[in-house]
Amino acid sequence: MAGAAANVAAVRAVAGTCYFRASRSLACLARPAYRARQDRSNKWLAVLDGPGNRRLGVAELLFGRSSELAAITGFVERAGIGGEALLLLGEPGVGKTALLDAAASTAAEAGMSVLRAAGAQFEADLPFSGLHQVLLPLLDEFGRLDAVHGGALSAALGYGASPAPDRMLVSAATLTVLRHAAADSPVLVVVDDMPWMDRATAGVLGFVARRLAGTRVGFLAASRTEEEGFFERSGLPARELAPLDSQAAQSLLADRFPALAPALRQRVLSEAQGNPLALLELPAALTERQRASGQDLPPTLPLTRRLLGLFGEQLQQLSPASRQVLLMLALDSTGDARVARPGSYTPAEPGAVEAEQAGLLHSRPGTRRLDFRHPLVRAAVVELAASSERRAAHQALAELAAGQPDRQAWHLAEAATGPDERVAELLECSARRILRRGDAVGAVSALTRAAELSPGEADRGRRLAEAAYLGAEVTGDIGRAARLLDDAWRAEQQPQSSLQAATAAAYLLLNGDGDVETAHHLLAGALDNAVERPDITAAVVDDALNTLMLLCYWDGSPELWNSFYDAIETWKSSVSEALHLASQTWADPARTAAPALAQLDAAIERLTGELDPVKIIRIAIAGLFADRLASCRAALWRVVRDGRDGGAVTSAINALILLARDDFPAGRWDQAEQLVNEAIQMCEQLDYPLLARPALLVHALLAAVRGNEDRARELADQLLRWAAPRGIRWVQCYAWHARALAALGRGDFEHAYQQLTVISPAGELALYVPYAMHVSMDLVEAAVRTGRDAEAAAHVTALHQAGIAKLSPRLAMLVSGAAALAATGPDAIGFFEQALAVDRAGRWPFELARVELAYGERLRRDRATKASRRHLAAALETFESLGARPWAARAAGELRVTGLTSLRQSIPGPASLTTQEREIALLAATGLSNKQIGERLFLSHRTIGAHLYQIFPKLGITSRAALRDALADIPEPDNPGSSEH
Ligand SMILES: Nc1ncnc2c1ncn2[C@@H]1O[C@H](COP(=O)(O)OP(=O)(O)O)[C@@H](O)[C@H]1O
Ligand SMILES: [Mg+2]
Repeated sequence: MAGAAANVAAVRAVAGTCYFRASRSLACLARPAYRARQDRSNKWLAVLDGPGNRRLGVAELLFGRSSELAAITGFVERAGIGGEALLLLGEPGVGKTALLDAAASTAAEAGMSVLRAAGAQFEADLPFSGLHQVLLPLLDEFGRLDAVHGGALSAALGYGASPAPDRMLVSAATLTVLRHAAADSPVLVVVDDMPWMDRATAGVLGFVARRLAGTRVGFLAASRTEEEGFFERSGLPARELAPLDSQAAQSLLADRFPALAPALRQRVLSEAQGNPLALLELPAALTERQRASGQDLPPTLPLTRRLLGLFGEQLQQLSPASRQVLLMLALDSTGDARVARPGSYTPAEPGAVEAEQAGLLHSRPGTRRLDFRHPLVRAAVVELAASSERRAAHQALAELAAGQPDRQAWHLAEAATGPDERVAELLECSARRILRRGDAVGAVSALTRAAELSPGEADRGRRLAEAAYLGAEVTGDIGRAARLLDDAWRAEQQPQSSLQAATAAAYLLLNGDGDVETAHHLLAGALDNAVERPDITAAVVDDALNTLMLLCYWDGSPELWNSFYDAIETWKSSVSEALHLASQTWADPARTAAPALAQLDAAIERLTGELDPVKIIRIAIAGLFADRLASCRAALWRVVRDGRDGGAVTSAINALILLARDDFPAGRWDQAEQLVNEAIQMCEQLDYPLLARPALLVHALLAAVRGNEDRARELADQLLRWAAPRGIRWVQCYAWHARALAALGRGDFEHAYQQLTVISPAGELALYVPYAMHVSMDLVEAAVRTGRDAEAAAHVTALHQAGIAKLSPRLAMLVSGAAALAATGPDAIGFFEQALAVDRAGRWPFELARVELAYGERLRRDRATKASRRHLAAALETFESLGARPWAARAAGELRVTGLTSLRQSIPGPASLTTQEREIALLAATGLSNKQIGERLFLSHRTIGAHLYQIFPKLGITSRAALRDALADIPEPDNPGSSEH
């Protein structure tokens, strides 16, 4: 004992001089969030380092680890009571250390003493260096050991004289020290990177870990799955740490890199495979611009030094032949094992086998595929190869890919050392095929690379111009499009490339400052120059004309539209079906849509198998004003999903807005709001302010119908301030409508009338203002309510003359509703009934409820109180369920005037019927007689009669004929379901 005391004294004496060594060992706690520190009660606690000594927080910062954290907490608790050991296993970067941190924090919170150590790769040869880390905070305890054990331990840790301490003695001494320490408060030993522990420490810790039962000492260690060290882990409980699930991976990425471009986000998610380290480091290895735009990414993402170290480590030890095999596999995206050995694959292929044995490759049973253990291994293979090696591998792969032109073109391009027109042309053809498959981003990359490889200036210009056009119209990468365009202008100009360049430039001008006029001038000029040039393809002309049409729509003036129709005439043979349809159904549908509807419906039907996002958007736009969007939803959702995955983002923004525009009349207002929010977010990420404006218009309309008057006013004013000086008429129309809806809701009919008649004057449907059709009932209501009966009647006449009721059931409902509102005599009722009888009118609940409200108001004035209540109640219920507060208040007010004081209970309606009454009523509504109903229900016809006598007043009706309408449930909004997302 005296000897031990002396040893301790010696230890104390040398502690200072040994500090250098201790701190070196401590330094291999690579990123310790904890630091051992003695607190006032002389206990060792682990506390969090860092500002303010944050004790909490580690667990909160972990994504997707709740079940692991729960398991670890359970383990810590049990260990503190009865001793227990646990090993955490997992690939590098999966989050083992992070979980150890969390466990240490939990234990410290619970008052346990935490002892930490970590193996370090280059210290594995230093005997007991690990144990030194573990026991350093317990030096005081050594004094309680007997001389033999104390001496052995001190010697092991470098304080004593004994040259070769006995391993068994050291192990036993360590266990005893830990037990002693745990007598004061439970202890948790936390060891990271176990396989790198020196052999001596590994032996001691293995001994200790198996003898903890009954001790109040816990032992928690982490190891890489594939790494075998000196630590004997058999028989110890282990837990394999899986990669993060995709939800958690996305959240982590969104948290740390909120501004990552969607295309890059997808790349990172797929390369990282739920590995948190990779999720954090892959974006870090890219430039700011690559991160923000997601473009110009190399085929394999570069690795940071840290990732390369972790995932490339084993590669260095392979033979050159194996590395070549790996490189071929890494550069070939198919994973086809034949790549590893051209000709036939035999499992004995030496390079593949060595890599398989090293655990870098897995062959999938039953297939000829070889997969990398982790995508980052593949990235490391590429990164470690010299560029000449990569080119040679691509050349070999190109030869293997004969018969697969896209792959071959890509490999040849990667193998090329300088311009090569043959390869450039192959790539250009490949771009066309890629685009047809719906991958616009891939097409832009292929075209840009083709331009780089073009020896001729003219070819280069043409390819750049096409890439710029696609970038602007489809992929949404405005910044890149501008740069490509810049280069394209500099190259020699041919009519075709100048037409494409002008198309791209038109988009850029429109997006930049909304300069419609200049954009139009430029594009119309380029089209003029291109006339009668035989080398211009129809597709290029069609794109240009589509853009021209868009500009006409933004401008809205008849002069521009006239010149557009002239251009269409000139280029007749190049006009696609989508363009033809839109020119009929979108520009001025009140006059031209009807004859084109059959063809439009057929084109929409064909969207089922359509992948090209541009085509989907163009057809959907053609269907917008003829209320055909509902049938385009599935295709539009495909475009949205593709954009979310970093595909054609411009198209996705358009699709989101179109879906929202369909949701608005359909009463799915929350969804509409979410969709336009997503669209606005995408616009911000891409610096594409142009498209945010249509999205804001939907917000303005939503605010108006929900009665958020301030917001509606603010948004409408903001949009008008932008649109007015630029003469962007359609944006103005929507903003005026938002103001009008807000005014109608609060009953300010004069203001509503003023706004609506700027969209289109009463008595006409203004030329090239398609929106005028959809605001027609609003206009008539405002006119009638401000005593402008003549104007109202004139407008209804105009609607009838234009025949817009034929374009869609919704328009039929609005026209009948308008006619009913304008009618001064008894024929109003007929029009109201006509409006309500429109096929599945409940698909547009807000507008239907407006008809019901107007109907109820009219009936009340005609003193048909009971019937009026029914319509008012239906309107009230719909407005309430939609959240259309001002209208709900209007309907409730009207109901009150009918003498209903207690609204809920006394509103007549199907809800107040008993089950049997309801059954009888339904049968009676189908036209069955009392006798027939009685037969069905096994009741006498008298009983049926008596029931009906009860039923009529409950429904607020007086005749059998009114039953059907009274029972028509307030229609469900036609929600196609959440599968859409
Ligand atoms: N669930 C998680 N949520 C957020 N970040 C994590 C998560 N798991 C690990 N990390 C972070 O990822 C990186 C790698 O984790 P780490 O624990 O060092 O991995 P390992 O020890 O398994 O190699 C660290 O920066 C860590 O903070
Ligand atoms: Mg670690």
